[in-house]
Amino acid sequence: MDFKPNEIQTAVRDAARRYAQERLAPGARERDRNHTFPKAELREMAELGLMGVNVPEAFGGAGAGTVAYSLAMTEIAAGCASTAVTMAVTNMCAELICKAGSEEQKKRYVPHLTSGEYMAGAFALSEPQAGSDPSAMATFAEKRGNKWVLNGAKQWITSGAYAGVMVVWARTSREPGAKGISCFLVEGGTKGLLVGKAEEKMGLKASNTVPLTFEDCEIPEENLMGQVGEGFKWAMVALDGGRIGIASQALGIGRAALEAATAYAKDRKAFGQPIGNFQGVSFKLADMKTELDAAQLLALRAAWLKEEGRPFTREASMAKLFASEAANRAVSEAVQIHGGYGYVDEFPVERHLRDARVTTIYEGTSEIQRLVIAREILREGAR
Ligand code: CAA
Repeated sequence: MDFKPNEIQTAVRDAARRYAQERLAPGARERDRNHTFPKAELREMAELGLMGVNVPEAFGGAGAGTVAYSLAMTEIAAGCASTAVTMAVTNMCAELICKAGSEEQKKRYVPHLTSGEYMAGAFALSEPQAGSDPSAMATFAEKRGNKWVLNGAKQWITSGAYAGVMVVWARTSREPGAKGISCFLVEGGTKGLLVGKAEEKMGLKASNTVPLTFEDCEIPEENLMGQVGEGFKWAMVALDGGRIGIASQALGIGRAALEAATAYAKDRKAFGQPIGNFQGVSFKLADMKTELDAAQLLALRAAWLKEEGRPFTREASMAKLFASEAANRAVSEAVQIHGGYGYVDEFPVERHLRDARVTTIYEGTSEIQRLVIAREILREGAR
């Protein structure tokens, strides 16, 4: 067993860390306040290979693997969590097209995502009445001649207003449940694809989250990805990998909060000494660090399994569950350590608290992660 990242993983992590600390972190507060989508930053990150960390070099990716991706995601999230979620969804789309797409689809779309020519990719699965249970989706795709015609509504779509290409799921049969769902590639700006008003979110305010409506939205027949009826499986495959990304994002937010709380505990004095000298404060730091490190081990194990081509569904859900909940505990304690200063935006921890909150919700709630983990234990055994 080797806990040391290899040369490539170290290089990707260090490049992401440098970029996050020098370029992302200084502007994170202003982008959050003004809800500014990080356009220039995303292009620069593409130049660093961060829009396709685990995408083959043949399609413009870094080909650096999932462990490198997890390490990079944590660094970017520590600098700016809004930019990190945008990066996460773009990487997830690029990887999914590489897995499920035809050669033509890979050549046509993936290099645009990895190069930053497309500002982002989007993953349009959830609907107003189908979040935790995407098999209940209602969006329908009908075959008319050599076109597919999409009608329906999607909800909470990250980067929906900026995506050059979206992976969109729709029913292609009246059969209920997962079987009748297929997967399509829809280019941003396609006629009949209507982008709604951006959501006013609690956190991740510099990321873009919109509802989408498809009104007789025609796409060429070759934009079906995979086979008819295969879409649900591809959604699950993509989410397994995506959950490693969100675990890593949560970790980054938690780590940034721990670093801020540590600096504050050394600097702030009460009763004549730095508050870090009090056990009530220092034990909080100890618990935060221990939980975040445990979460990182879970995330890296899931990433390693994925990279090895071994099953990792349960491990990805365990990482996402534990990391997102540990991050939420960490940000809450960081605010507590800051006292009144933790509740105002002069210090970063109130933003970290707002940003961390969604990590137990998107890409599958904590309850869905428990369901996935429990099912796998009951099916495969507890080892
Ligand atoms: N890999 C491959 N195939 C899988 C799979 C996996 N991990 N999980 C399920 N499948 C397959 C099953 O084998 C089954 O196929 P067969 O019938 O051929 O055997 C089919 O998919 C249906 O599986 P289930 O019966 O298990 O499906 P279910 O309806 O019970 O749902 C679920 C399972 C895990 C609860 C799933 O619905 C789920 O993950 N829900 C949460 C959805 C989610 O995470 N949404 C996030 C939205 S995207 C987002 O948040 C992005 C963002 O903005 C940041």
